[in-house]
Amino acid sequence: MPITYLEKENIFEIRTAQSSYVFGINEKGTIQHLYWGDHIEASECGYLLVGRLHSSFDAEIDRETEEYGGWGGCNYAEPALKVSFADGVRDLRLGYKSYRIVSENEIVIRMADAYYPLFVDVHYKVLPAYDLIERYVQVHNGLNESVRIEQIMAAVWTVQALPDYRMTHVTGRWAGEYQLRSTVLSEGKKVLESRRGFTGPHANPWFAIDNGQADETSGRVWFGALGWSGNWKIVAEKTTFGHVRIVGGVNDFDSSFVLAPGEVYASPVFVGGFTSGGFGQMSRNLHQYQNDYVLPTSKLRKVLYNSWEATEFAVTVEGQKELAQQAARLGVERFVVDDGWFGERHSDRAGLGDWYVNAEKFPNGLEELIDHVKGLGMEFGLWVEPESVNPDSDLFRAHPEWVYQFPTREGTQLRNQLLLNLGLPEVKQFVLHFMTTLLTKYDIRFIKWDMNRTVTEPGTMASCQDADGSMWIKHVHHLYDIWSELRGRFPHVEFETCAGGGARIDLGILRYADQAWISDNTDARDRLSIQEGFSYAYSPSVMMCWVTESPHGFNGRSLPLSYRFHSAMMGGLGIGANISKWSTEELDEAKRYVELYKEIRPVILNGDLYRLSSLRDSNVAAYQYNSTERNESIVFTFLQSQHFGSEVRHLLLQDLVSHAAYAVTIDEGEPFVRHGSTLMNLGLAVSLRGDYKSLMIRIKRLD
Ligand code: DGJ
Repeated sequence: MPITYLEKENIFEIRTAQSSYVFGINEKGTIQHLYWGDHIEASECGYLLVGRLHSSFDAEIDRETEEYGGWGGCNYAEPALKVSFADGVRDLRLGYKSYRIVSENEIVIRMADAYYPLFVDVHYKVLPAYDLIERYVQVHNGLNESVRIEQIMAAVWTVQALPDYRMTHVTGRWAGEYQLRSTVLSEGKKVLESRRGFTGPHANPWFAIDNGQADETSGRVWFGALGWSGNWKIVAEKTTFGHVRIVGGVNDFDSSFVLAPGEVYASPVFVGGFTSGGFGQMSRNLHQYQNDYVLPTSKLRKVLYNSWEATEFAVTVEGQKELAQQAARLGVERFVVDDGWFGERHSDRAGLGDWYVNAEKFPNGLEELIDHVKGLGMEFGLWVEPESVNPDSDLFRAHPEWVYQFPTREGTQLRNQLLLNLGLPEVKQFVLHFMTTLLTKYDIRFIKWDMNRTVTEPGTMASCQDADGSMWIKHVHHLYDIWSELRGRFPHVEFETCAGGGARIDLGILRYADQAWISDNTDARDRLSIQEGFSYAYSPSVMMCWVTESPHGFNGRSLPLSYRFHSAMMGGLGIGANISKWSTEELDEAKRYVELYKEIRPVILNGDLYRLSSLRDSNVAAYQYNSTERNESIVFTFLQSQHFGSEVRHLLLQDLVSHAAYAVTIDEGEPFVRHGSTLMNLGLAVSLRGDYKSLMIRIKRLD
């Protein structure tokens, strides 16, 4: 049983395969966090369950380790919940009320205000095999009056006392997402957040804490990831008494909202985990959790071709047919037409919002291309950006009142577009309706759903009165509703989340999306660092990577086709180059890689990832993927540049079976035999020479 209540001690224990998570109720009725880490005997932490006082300035230190606490009384740490009651009282005294074991893996702790019938249900759902706990809260307004919610966080995670707390997270910007950063926490707060209306490219709602010494293979790591695709906030706070708590949820910035009498609000899910196996194990736990629990299906990613980098807005039926012909020759399984197929969309200045097929570009309708693509044995996919509108569009001319904008001032245009207020029921209906029409009329098997700007001026032009802070939240709820509805109506269609690259990827949208476009930067070298950062939190099974041109337009860097394929084969493989212009040699080589990828794809997408070496601190990057049965491994290794003639490098492989013999094939070389123990301890000798060299290694168990 993963969840136990120890009555005598008044303690709850959550026990996963490798961790114990313990909290209890102290004499004041405060739910106090006691321990999170490697297994312990929970009954032996009862002595920790005491109120603590330091001085009249810090009268309730124990509240710094509350499992979930409101702002009120003597509590100055970042609150999980802050409310205003209708009578003007702004003090919330949450205390323990009861508990309910919902199932073997789920417990709900009910808290209530000391005076008003405002109830908070704190949910814990345990995923024992992954050492993870999903947490969220539900707030019930049992009053006869409305309550204003000013801040409501999904969960509070407390990390036990460490000599040092190092926080790891990602940062970035458009075309440079998922860059890893670490910082030692000193007293005060480190805030990661988005106020841009979506998850954002500049930060991502994932964190890890360790004592400064964990590495890829060892060390204790506490971590969490929030499932919310709008404004979010994660606050890591170190108090002067050395407690570190991580509070996360929907960002309270400009987002207070009213909970009507009888209404219930449910927060997003904030999953947290502990491992003593270092950052590598942390990522593998998160990956398998996503693959098994979060993602809507367990289908393997199809090899896709996307026309964006080849044609941009200059879409023509003939050009697309030619690209499709070449793509089919390479073994591509899904052909995707990107931006530019609809309305008067000849550039980014017009057409967004007018979701009819452009008759000049497709004189015989989209069917001509779809039939052609299907005739070549591929599926057809289409790009859309439903939340956006160009002022130069029929949609905007008909419904200028549908965009986010405040009266008395113009809305900011970004990429010449405004955003539709998806929180409005009529806008939600419009999006659902046009998407349903598209997916009913045409045989479309894949949708790339883009969003190319941030949210600004979150108001309505009609009046400011009906525009409260909940608009930020409604947008996301309606987005989720639409995706959920479309998935129900069209179960054969797969969806990709994209926001000008990787700006909307989190555990919230991944409940609806099969895959994610992680960056518009397709330079294969830059991609290694973007993909590596991404892999800390998210599974390779959703990570879409394309092979594109060399020299690459972004950095002007030339890279061999092998390097570009190896880099793109580390997740879901796509091709985004202008393959109509490729030589026969290039096409033949690409075809071989696509064939190879299809063979290894189950290991890459469903297996376990080991980051053996990183270009962040080495001249060589190496990534190993093990099949779940541990009978097959794939390794990709990349040399940045050659120095001082050094040639042979030993890659220390991980998690093979020591006594087992393996056939090792480096690139297209002859296979040779090595034992697991040799590969893990002496390592695998690889010869990488030159600049931007790469190799793929296949390892198969023999006995
Ligand atoms: C941004 C996306 O990330 C690109 O892949 C492409 O779809 C463009 N938008 C199209 O406008």
